[in-house]
Amino acid sequence: MLRKEKILVLDFGGQYCQLIARRVRECNVYCEIKSYKTSLKAIQEAGYCGIIFTGGANSVYGEDSPSCDPQIFELGIPILGICYGAQLMAYLLGGKVCKSEVREYGHTEFAHEKDTVLFRDVPEKSVCWMSHTDYIAAVPKGFSVTAKSVHCPVAAMEQLEKNLYAVQMHPEVQHTEYGQQILKNFLYGACKCNGDWVMSSFVEEAVASIRAQVGDKKVVCGLSGGVDSSVAAVLVHKAIGKNLTCIFVDHGMMRKNEGDEVEQVFRKQFDINLIRVNAGEKFLSRLKGVTEPEKKRKIIGEGFIRVFEEEAKKLGKVEFLCQGTIYPDVVESGTGNAAVIKSHHNVGGLPKDIGFEGLVEPLRDLFKDEVRKVGTELGIPDFLVWRQPFPGPGLGIRILGEVTEEKVALLQEADAIFREEIANAGLDRSINQYFAVLTGIRSVGVMGDGRTYSNTIALRGVTTSDFMTAEWARVPYDLLEKVSSRIINEVPNVNRVVYDITSKPPATIEWE
Ligand code: XMP
Repeated sequence: MLRKEKILVLDFGGQYCQLIARRVRECNVYCEIKSYKTSLKAIQEAGYCGIIFTGGANSVYGEDSPSCDPQIFELGIPILGICYGAQLMAYLLGGKVCKSEVREYGHTEFAHEKDTVLFRDVPEKSVCWMSHTDYIAAVPKGFSVTAKSVHCPVAAMEQLEKNLYAVQMHPEVQHTEYGQQILKNFLYGACKCNGDWVMSSFVEEAVASIRAQVGDKKVVCGLSGGVDSSVAAVLVHKAIGKNLTCIFVDHGMMRKNEGDEVEQVFRKQFDINLIRVNAGEKFLSRLKGVTEPEKKRKIIGEGFIRVFEEEAKKLGKVEFLCQGTIYPDVVESGTGNAAVIKSHHNVGGLPKDIGFEGLVEPLRDLFKDEVRKVGTELGIPDFLVWRQPFPGPGLGIRILGEVTEEKVALLQEADAIFREEIANAGLDRSINQYFAVLTGIRSVGVMGDGRTYSNTIALRGVTTSDFMTAEWARVPYDLLEKVSSRIINEVPNVNRVVYDITSKPPATIEWE
């Protein structure tokens, strides 16, 4: 497919590589990420209208530092170097890059020249985000310095004839006040992009590339009802129709009506081949008498894989597995050195070596909010697109101690009331996760004339951007009161409702 407008993000190992790509997409310009090892010929043939060199952790003087063919600057394609990418441009073109004793990290004020391509509509002084040790001390011949900061004699430079630009700071991060404007200036001003790429183009491209990858082979997808797997499934279905089969393992610990709602959307609305396995009894019998949280997770996780495998086998030969992997998952699994607090990243997912020829992961480069946009574009209903995260083991880890059918039913009711009231109050998109927990505590109460000894429900609501840390949500008292009284009145065997006011850390979001 010949494309009019595309940008190459040349990856030199920077941690913000995907973020740059995302910012470019936000400017309605399509982009591709490629390794710095990509050959000059391939770059030339692809017909990019601009190239962005990412940052990276190395020094240009390092022995194995990533580099590129200096002929890249002669291709006549506008280039923007960011951080390490800027230093590399300076170094390869004969400028001077110096090692500094101290690392400059964080917010810095920088001042730039007026009327330059890159700083159009940017105030002369603004705050940017720096993270570097080496710095450009002198620009290469033909370049001019276009910005300075306290520690950087060359915070930005440009060479207009060759359309080469470089910035020491990171325009892609939110802390850089005018970062998006600077990127826009590069894309529209230097690369002359029109900005006509939209999410529907993503859908078209993804459909084409799934077809190219899969051909007329078969794909199976494990559906959880979560945003990512739902969007991935609908996208793959759009590409290959009935050659996709979705398997929805209902472990009996979903939220109230959730299983039916998921089934309705996929079977009725999209006419997707769907196998729903109602495995509730199987799971509950395996969980009988088990109270230890990690053990519960393990049982549910393994059970999920086993049921999925059994069903997939019945389909005969299936070559591909579709997964709703999104970019933050790739980062998380890539780092690998974070302490295991809970084993959750394996729970509710499928191992990669489950015996397929290949993986179809159409959302691998997208961030969560972009996945939501794709979902909306595909016509997936809001309740699925905006669904809050729900853990693979489901209510199984929100019932402290042993899980039984009665406890699941009780928690489903309490949780549904809380969710309904949060939605009625219009808070369902501002509170990032909210749910009820069956605490396993029984306490004394009075109801009517009698003494009760009954269950305690805890309500939990958190605000967070990444779920690694979280604040407890300041849910209005009136709303809490309403939820509490509805739960007590409508859910049998509950006589106390409490609200969890612990942030993460020290607590985790889930109670188990
Ligand atoms: P914690 O409790 O560790 O949770 O603060 C952070 C986020 O991860 C979700 N979570 C899970 N997701 N399988 C999942 O797919 C799991 O086993 C699991 N445990 C926790 C949790 O809901 C929160 O969004």
